[in-house]
Amino acid sequence: MSAHIAIIGSGQLARMMALDGIPMGMRFSFLVDEGEDTRCVNALGNVVVRCGEAGDIYRQLGEPDVVTVEKEHVDIDLLKGLQAHCPVHPNPDALKIFKNRLQEKLSLQSLSIPLAPFQSVTSREDLQQALRSLDKPIFLKSEEQGYDGYNQHRITRDNAEQVLDAVSFAGAWVAEEFVPFEREVSFLAARGGNGDIAFYPAVENYHRNGTLLRSIAPAPSLSASQIATGHRYLSDILVKTDYVGLICMECFVVGDDILVNEIAPRVHNSGHWTAKGALTSQFENHLRAIAGLPLGSCEARGISGMLNLLGVTATAAQVVDEHCFLTLYGKTQQPRRKLGHIVVSGQSHEDVEARLAIMEKQVYCA
Ligand SMILES: Nc1ncnc2c1ncn2[C@@H]1O[C@H](COP(=O)(O)OP(=O)(O)O)[C@@H](O)[C@H]1O
Ligand SMILES: [Mg+2]
Repeated sequence: MSAHIAIIGSGQLARMMALDGIPMGMRFSFLVDEGEDTRCVNALGNVVVRCGEAGDIYRQLGEPDVVTVEKEHVDIDLLKGLQAHCPVHPNPDALKIFKNRLQEKLSLQSLSIPLAPFQSVTSREDLQQALRSLDKPIFLKSEEQGYDGYNQHRITRDNAEQVLDAVSFAGAWVAEEFVPFEREVSFLAARGGNGDIAFYPAVENYHRNGTLLRSIAPAPSLSASQIATGHRYLSDILVKTDYVGLICMECFVVGDDILVNEIAPRVHNSGHWTAKGALTSQFENHLRAIAGLPLGSCEARGISGMLNLLGVTATAAQVVDEHCFLTLYGKTQQPRRKLGHIVVSGQSHEDVEARLAIMEKQVYCA
């Protein structure tokens, strides 16, 4: 019997997982909230709009063999309810930690993983206190529901009063010191149910306005000891949370040090290059892990670069060539929205950086 996988969510990550699982004989269904845009998963499986208790939802999904997620903002109680019917990977307790920035940071701290200095902020007084005790600039990030730089404020000496007046304390925040990083990198790994861990080569990332714009892998300038440090942090996290599936750890590189910024408990944008540039894509390895199959090799084929299409799109006729591959998500165009990405491959970092620069000019300056 082929595995039936239910995914919570219906965005591009759900789409790319299904597109990699279908050739392996897997079947998919998707659980969405009322009104959620499901265009990305059109024709890839049954879409169920959430209604009723966990047992009803499990049946409406078609009694899947395993449930997984494509996003962090999920209802943990629902996942726990679904666990009575089938395995849920990653497990809801792990997802509960990573869904909340403060809990995530406290959990990382308990593993002695270095982070930027931070404080919990739930009131105007807390924020005033954080502004006094943390070095500016400060990033004020919502505890939950933050992504792609949304729900964040960058506070400098000049705008502190303005932000104090503008911020709502209906929800909780984390205030974090600015990190003068040299580079941002991410570490991606898959962990199987038997405890096996497979690490992808580290990725170097460049963000614009808090959103990932470009990635290059393997990361050109990490030392062997920095890579070993990243692997140690990530494997400690995976083991502590008894995690099964793909995970991404976003980091700042400061001198020789690696500071962890945040954890994404799912397949991640900085791993999209793996679909063309690694022996096993991150999507396939996530599916293999949650379906109890052996993990595939994470080895890179040459060097890869990834360019996000943010609010802009492209056609295959405009961009594809021998070394350039286009993936579109099937969404309607909106400013800043992730509409697709381009992967370029090459034999050297210079090669790939040059190809990325040409693509960036072509799609953003068209
Ligand atoms: N403390 C910080 N110091 C410097 N840059 C930061 C800091 N926090 C976030 N950033 C920048 O903003 C980006 C988005 O922040 P992040 O915490 O990853 O939030 P999100 O959940 O929106 O991805 C980071 O990738 C980084 O470029
Ligand atoms: Mg981030």
